[in-house]
Amino acid sequence: MKIAIINGPNLNLLGKRETDIYGNMPFGKYLESLKAKYPNVEFHYFQSNVEGELIDEIQRVGFEYDGIILNPAGYTHTSVAIGDAIAAIKAPVVEVHISNVHAREEFRKLSHVSGKSAGSIFGLGLTGYELALTYLLSR
Ligand code: DQA
Repeated sequence: MKIAIINGPNLNLLGKRETDIYGNMPFGKYLESLKAKYPNVEFHYFQSNVEGELIDEIQRVGFEYDGIILNPAGYTHTSVAIGDAIAAIKAPVVEVHISNVHAREEFRKLSHVSGKSAGSIFGLGLTGYELALTYLLSR
């Protein structure tokens, strides 16, 4: 099973960034724990702060991987093009947000990604990535 995890802008700063909202764990460390727990899964990780690079990666893995766990971060709320990329590919996408986007500013309630995804998880911290993985493995 090949699973891609794609993180959008500023998620390279996890562990340092607004730790009251996003926690203290760097994503690399969390990913190591996931890899150890799911040794049969072939993980591919990609992070970018650039919208077009995220779209290129979604297109690249979208016909090759069994599923994508996607946290488009701030682009969730602005990017029609990332929503279109998800609609264009074959692999199922699970949208993940670490924070509860519905309990924050109004603009975070809009997602261009939710309607194109198999499902969405928000507000459960980094555990959301594992829950998304569990779903993709169960398909
Ligand atoms: C986020 C929520 C977004 O609103 C925000 O722009 C992020 C992170 C989350 O994981 O909670 O950068 O996607």
